[in-house]
Amino acid sequence: MTKYQLLSTNYFFPMKIIESPEEMQRFSRGARRSGKRLGFVPTMGALHEGHLSLVRMARRQSDCVAASIFVNPRQFGPNEDLAKYPRTFERDCQLLEAEKVDVLFAPKVEAMYPPAATTIVEVQELSERLDGRSRPGHFRGVTTVVSKLFNIVQPDLAFFGQKDAAQVAIIRRMVRDLNFDLQIVVGAIVRESDGLAMSSRNAYLDPQQRKQALVLNRALMRVHFMVDKGERDAQKLIEAAKQVIAEERGAKLDYLEIVDPDTLEPVVDLSKRALVAVAAWIGTTRLIDNLLLGASS
Ligand code: PAJ
Repeated sequence: MTKYQLLSTNYFFPMKIIESPEEMQRFSRGARRSGKRLGFVPTMGALHEGHLSLVRMARRQSDCVAASIFVNPRQFGPNEDLAKYPRTFERDCQLLEAEKVDVLFAPKVEAMYPPAATTIVEVQELSERLDGRSRPGHFRGVTTVVSKLFNIVQPDLAFFGQKDAAQVAIIRRMVRDLNFDLQIVVGAIVRESDGLAMSSRNAYLDPQQRKQALVLNRALMRVHFMVDKGERDAQKLIEAAKQVIAEERGAKLDYLEIVDPDTLEPVVDLSKRALVAVAAWIGTTRLIDNLLLGASS
């Protein structure tokens, strides 16, 4: 039992914490049997307002809210930040309980990936685009763990952030292709007051890098401005945005693309909905951001 669990027994609204997949399945079956609509917010913890906005959406749209915290090793590359990824479990529990989350699923790695767990779930093609190109195997790790989480939590609604736009497209495709019996709900990007998209990885930035990181949003705002003025040529928009990134010496561009938000394929003219997606390195920290153009929602 963690220190948090001992403290939380005094709360008026205690959140249940479950580590075992089987126990989580039992809980979910019970909730659904009693006619409750179950909303689910999967996370890797180190929670911020971006995560909490999804939890609030889930609370409004569901009778029972489940969240998960699991730093999924399979979605990190061998040279990525798995070991140093921020882990703030006690604080996360307090934040989730304050949002009246009913149940937190927080499994250990061994429970999710027992020895010889060799099954993978992969959405082909889409998984090689955008972040998938720079992070080989990343989306395979995401779709494998998210399908496991869906089978364990069995939600009616699952909430994801637009911040990870490629992840949204890939999970939507997976849900459709594999007939998962649930609905995906997408929440808008939550930003700091100066425009930086909230991310658990922002914690890696020193004060100077924190300022340099604003260049991602600045590049997107440049595109927004040009589109507002009538520019529809994707190539011109991309060049202008890349120029903004090039002017920030602390930033190194990974990709900047304008793609179809569902197929993640490049678009040429912007007559339909389009996603402007950017990834850049600020020192050793890789950050992403995006802007949906022509979106009705
Ligand atoms: P994580 O990065 O912890 O994010 C959990 C959820 O919060 C994701 O749906 C993400 O898009 C959303 N989110 C993060 N920052 C946000 C922001 N600034 N505004 C709105 N939503 C934001 O994404 C993952 O974890 C993992 O890949 C996961 C789906 C849990 C699978 O391991």
